[in-house]
Amino acid sequence: MQKFEIVVKTLFGLEEVLMKELRGLGVQQMEKLTRAVAFEGDNELLYRCNLQLRTAMKVLKPIEHFYCRNEKQLYNKIRGIDWSKYMTVGQTLACEGVTSGNIFRHSKYVALKSKDAIVDQFRDETGRRPSVDLENPDIRVNIHIRDTSCTVSLNSSGEVLSKRGYRKQMTLAPIMETLAAGIILMSGWDGETAFIDPMCGSGTFPIEAALISSNTPPGYRRDFCFERWKDFDASLWDRIRKNADAAKTRVKAKIYASDANSDALKAAQNNARRFGLGSAIDFTQQDFLNSEAREETGSIFINPPYGERLQDEPEQIIQLYNDIGSTLKHAYENHDAWIISSNVAALKRVGLKPSKKVKLMNGALDCMLYHFELYHGSKKFSKQN
Ligand SMILES: C[S@@+](CC[C@H](N)C(=O)[O-])C[C@H]1O[C@@H](n2cnc3c(N)ncnc32)[C@H](O)[C@@H]1O
Repeated sequence: MQKFEIVVKTLFGLEEVLMKELRGLGVQQMEKLTRAVAFEGDNELLYRCNLQLRTAMKVLKPIEHFYCRNEKQLYNKIRGIDWSKYMTVGQTLACEGVTSGNIFRHSKYVALKSKDAIVDQFRDETGRRPSVDLENPDIRVNIHIRDTSCTVSLNSSGEVLSKRGYRKQMTLAPIMETLAAGIILMSGWDGETAFIDPMCGSGTFPIEAALISSNTPPGYRRDFCFERWKDFDASLWDRIRKNADAAKTRVKAKIYASDANSDALKAAQNNARRFGLGSAIDFTQQDFLNSEAREETGSIFINPPYGERLQDEPEQIIQLYNDIGSTLKHAYENHDAWIISSNVAALKRVGLKPSKKVKLMNGALDCMLYHFELYHGSKKFSKQN
């Protein structure tokens, strides 16, 4: 099969996890970029990246690299690409621009100019223009410009890959699916020991955990832009999907999800049911601060309120983190805990010594992920006690 360049975009801080996932798909040589990883592959790998990578945001296929200094040059270069190789005039189109540096400052304008160049080429060649559809286009073109260096890619994913399709009901401040999966993979959770999310909100952590534990591809319920490409290989795609289906197992771990808020819990249950995971997750309405461990050992993942909203009282948030620390210490001995928050001052008030700190971003928010080992006799645990 023909080989070409592939660039997988991810979130800040998840590059190494993504590289590990790619090694699992058989990629040996790759280049780590900022929030992305580049390598060579064929259509089979491109399809599998979309279906199977849990930490990928989008999978790009670069088709042209060039230099340009202004919008006119950009327009001419893009118009110089033979677009009939990639789409028909009857297909819908959207361009997305990503810019950095001092020369091209407006990503929306870059997208607009690029779209004009493609549409004008079709108009001149065929007398017709492809329609633009910003919501659900057949063909998505990604234009990445850094200073004067431009890469034009086809976005093979379509809608960002974090949108798996289960989270139709949202609660306040949900964590991005890709980030939740990345944190679980980073933790080294084995998919078999107990998994606990005591502040589950819309259920992102437990649902991602259930998908991991059952080896279910994150993209198995959605579609992708490459299915509308001219070179789409339907029988290859069918074989990849069948193989992935055959590799699915039951959910091997006990997964506990709870939240103090009954609406959040209902949303989480509905989201899990949507993916056939309703009975794989144990849902309970519960205040974590009055809870006790249900298993001898397990991994706890907490995404507490950050205190970003105006109505949040800073003292209450600090108190909450302090109480989370006491609950972990007294009721969850022999567990591992991972807490992500943008509120570093509050995280410090958990009062246990973290064995690991990782910088991440949840949307636009700079966050820290702290790992606490609550094993009796663990140096890190006893130091604080
Ligand atoms: C930032 S949200 C979690 C979002 C979730 N990770 C998601 O993806 O939707 C924080 C959640 O903590 C819950 N919460 C706050 N204090 C709690 C407590 N003491 N016990 C249990 N849940 C609590 C809130 O109801 C809220 O759903």
